[in-house]
Amino acid sequence: MPAVIATLNLKGGVGKTTVTAGLGEFLAGEFGRRVLLVDLDSQMNLTAMMIGPDRWVDLNTRGATLAALFADAVDGTRTFRLAEALQRDVSTVDGVAGVDLVPSSLDLIELTEELSALRVRRDDTLAAVGILGDALAPVLGDYDVVLLDCPPSMGPLTLNGLAMAHGYLVPTIPDVLSTYGIGQVQTQIARFAAELGRPIVELGVVVSKYRANATVHRETVLRLRRDPTIAHVLPGYLGESNAIAAAARFDHWPSLRARYGARGQFDQFRELARTVLVEAEHKLPEATPRP
Ligand SMILES: Nc1ncnc2c1ncn2[C@@H]1O[C@H](COP(=O)(O)OP(=O)(O)O)[C@@H](O)[C@H]1O
Ligand SMILES: [Mg+2]
Repeated sequence: MPAVIATLNLKGGVGKTTVTAGLGEFLAGEFGRRVLLVDLDSQMNLTAMMIGPDRWVDLNTRGATLAALFADAVDGTRTFRLAEALQRDVSTVDGVAGVDLVPSSLDLIELTEELSALRVRRDDTLAAVGILGDALAPVLGDYDVVLLDCPPSMGPLTLNGLAMAHGYLVPTIPDVLSTYGIGQVQTQIARFAAELGRPIVELGVVVSKYRANATVHRETVLRLRRDPTIAHVLPGYLGESNAIAAAARFDHWPSLRARYGARGQFDQFRELARTVLVEAEHKLPEATPRP
C-alpha cells in the first residue's frame, strides 16, 4: 500500500502545487520511489507543469482526465478509462523516472457544483467521495507514494482526495494571512476523518516562499514551531526564489538542480522529501513506503 498524502490549504497561491510537484520529482529522482501525482484542482496547474498544454488538450478532448471520471458519477455513464488517463513517466527532468500523473481538467469547474448537489441529493455526507479512491484502487499497488494536489477548498474534489488519503501536508507562506487557514484545515479534516471513522494524519506544515530577511516570516515560523496544535513544521523551508518560480515551466530540464535551483533550493527540496518519507514511515502505519 502506498502512502497517500494530500497537499491542502484553504488559501491559494501558497505553494501547494509547487510543493507537490517538487516532492514528486525528488521522491522519484533522489529516493527511487514510484510516485503517482493526482491533480484534483480545476486550475490544473500541476497538470500544466508536468505535461504541458498541448498534451492536456489532446487528453481532454479524448475524455482522459479526472473530469471524465467525475462526469460519469454525475450522469451515470461509464466513459472514464484509467489506462488512458494515467500518464506514465511524465517528468521532463533528465534522470527522473517513475513519476506518473492523473491529469485534471478545466471542465472540473462546472462539475464541482454538480458533485456537491449529488451529495446533498443523496442525503448522505459520504456519497460521492469515494469516486477517486475506487477508480485508482487497481493501480495503487504500483506506487510507493501517491500525492494528491487539492484545490483551495473543502469541496467534493478535495473530499474525494481526503477519503483515500492516509495523511496530509499543509504548505503555507509564513505570513499572517496565509497561516490563518491552518487551524481551519485541521478542524475540517478532523471532522471529515470522524465521518470516515479513521484518522487522516497531519504530517506537518511545509513552509514555502520563505524570506529569511522578512521579520514577519521569521516570527511566523517561530510561532508555528511553538504552536502546540501544529503537529510538525517540516525542516527544509522552501525559500522564495526565481528558480522555484521558473520550475513551473513545462520544459526539458537537464537535472533537478536545473529545474528547482542549485543555490540551496535543491537541498531544501531534498530535505523536505526525505522528511516526508520519515514522517510517513512513523505516522502512517497502514502505508509502508521504505525510508
Ligand atoms: N518557493 C517559491 N519561490 C518563488 N515562487 C514560488 C515558490 N513556490 C511557488 N511559487 C510560485 O507562486 C505561485 C503560486 O504557487 P503554487 O504552487 O501554484 O501555489 P498553490 O498551488 O497553493 O496555488 C506560482 O506562480 C508558483 O510558481
Ligand atoms: Mg495549486
